[in-house]
Amino acid sequence: MASDLPCHHRALVLEAVGAGFETKKIPMPSLDAGSAIVQVLSAGVRSYHREIYNGQRHYNFPKLIVGGISAIARIAAVGPDAVALHAGQLVFADCKIHARDDPDSLFVTAIHEGMNDRSKKLITDVWRDGVFAQYAKIPLENCIPLDETKLCRQLGYTTNDLMDIKLEPGETVVVCPATGGFGGAGVQVAVAMGARVIAMGRDEEELARLSAHIKSGTPRASIETVKLTGDLETDTVALQAFGTIDAVIDFTPPFACKSTHLKSAVEDVIDYKVMALNITLKGKLMYEREDVVLFVKMLESGLFPRGKDFADVKAFAMEDWNEALDTAAEHIGIGKVVVIEPWS
Ligand SMILES: NC(=O)c1ccc[n+]([C@@H]2O[C@H](COP(=O)([O-])OP(=O)(O)OC[C@H]3O[C@@H](n4cnc5c(N)ncnc54)[C@H](OP(=O)(O)O)[C@@H]3O)[C@@H](O)[C@H]2O)c1
Repeated sequence: MASDLPCHHRALVLEAVGAGFETKKIPMPSLDAGSAIVQVLSAGVRSYHREIYNGQRHYNFPKLIVGGISAIARIAAVGPDAVALHAGQLVFADCKIHARDDPDSLFVTAIHEGMNDRSKKLITDVWRDGVFAQYAKIPLENCIPLDETKLCRQLGYTTNDLMDIKLEPGETVVVCPATGGFGGAGVQVAVAMGARVIAMGRDEEELARLSAHIKSGTPRASIETVKLTGDLETDTVALQAFGTIDAVIDFTPPFACKSTHLKSAVEDVIDYKVMALNITLKGKLMYEREDVVLFVKMLESGLFPRGKDFADVKAFAMEDWNEALDTAAEHIGIGKVVVIEPWS
C-alpha cells in the first residue's frame, strides 16, 4: 500500500439485499499491479439504485458489498505497472469491468455480477466493492483521465454520462424515452455528433426543456420532440412524418417494457424486414472504453451546452444514503443528478 494512504476508510456497506447500508470503517484495499486506488469525490446515484439494493429489482451481486456505480475521483496511488496515470489526476472511474483475459466476461461494479461464472468470480474475488466510499480500488483501464483545467475551470463541468451506437453525422436517430438520465444523455451525445435527433417521451415539458437547452448552446442543432402517447398507431404516424429513421436508441426501464414506443419507432421491421433492409438490432450493456474516451474528448472540446440553470445536482453525505437513494428515484430528468460525496 502507498505509505501516505490511511489504513482504513469510511464506506457504505450492504450486508444483505433489503438490509440497508451501514457506514463502516473498512480496510484500505490493497494496491496491486493493474489497479489504482482512487479518492472518491462524487459517486453517482442512479434512479434505480434503490430498487437494486432493496430487492425490488432482481440484480445479482455478492454480499456483503460496498455500493456504487461510477464516480468522479482523484487518483491516490497507482500500481507498479501504471505508466500514464499518476497520483493527483482527476479521473472518471468507470463501473463496467471486463476480464482482462476474456473481455466478453463483464459486470457492472456493485450492482450486477454479469452473465457467466467468470464475471461472477471477478466481482466476488477481485473487484467487488463500489464507489460509495472514501477510497476505491479501480482497474487502471477504468480510470479515464479528465482534463481538470478544461472541464472544471474553463467549462464548469462536474459529472457526466454516455452511450453507444454507430451513428453518422446527418443521420436521423430516435431516442426514446428521452427524458431519463441515459436517454437525455443519449440525445445530447447524438446532437453533438451531428445527428438529426428525434427526442420522444411522455413528458412534453421535459422534452421542451431539453430541446431549449440544446438549442441555447448549439443553435444549429437538429432536434425535434415527439410526445409519446402510448397509442401505437398515433406514435408510428408521428415518427413516420420525419421520413427515414436510421437508428433508434431505447433506454426503457424494466417496468415500462410493455410500452409500445420501440415498436412505433421500428414499425413492423422486426417481424420480417430485418434481413431485407440490412437492419442491425443491438443489445448493449453500458458502453465500451473507447466510447468513454471519445465522450470525454467531446466534453473537453466544449461540444455540450451547459448552463447552471439546467444542471440540477443534489449532493448527499454518506450518512444520508437513504435520502440520496430516495431522491435519485424521484429526481429524474436531463441534467438532474444525484451524488454521494464521501468526504462531506
Ligand atoms: N443497457 C444498459 O447498459 C443500461 C445502462 C443503464 C441503464 N439501463 C436501463 O435504462 C433504464 C433507464 O435508465 P435511466 O437512468 O435513464 O432512468 P431514469 O432517469 O429513471 O429515466 C427513466 C425513463 O423512463 C421513462 N419511462 C418510465 N416509465 C415509462 C413508461 N411506462 N413508458 C415510457 N417511458 C417510461 C421515463 O419517462 P417519464 O419522464 O415520462 O417518466 C424516463 O425517461 C434503467 O431502468 C435501466 O434498466 C440500461
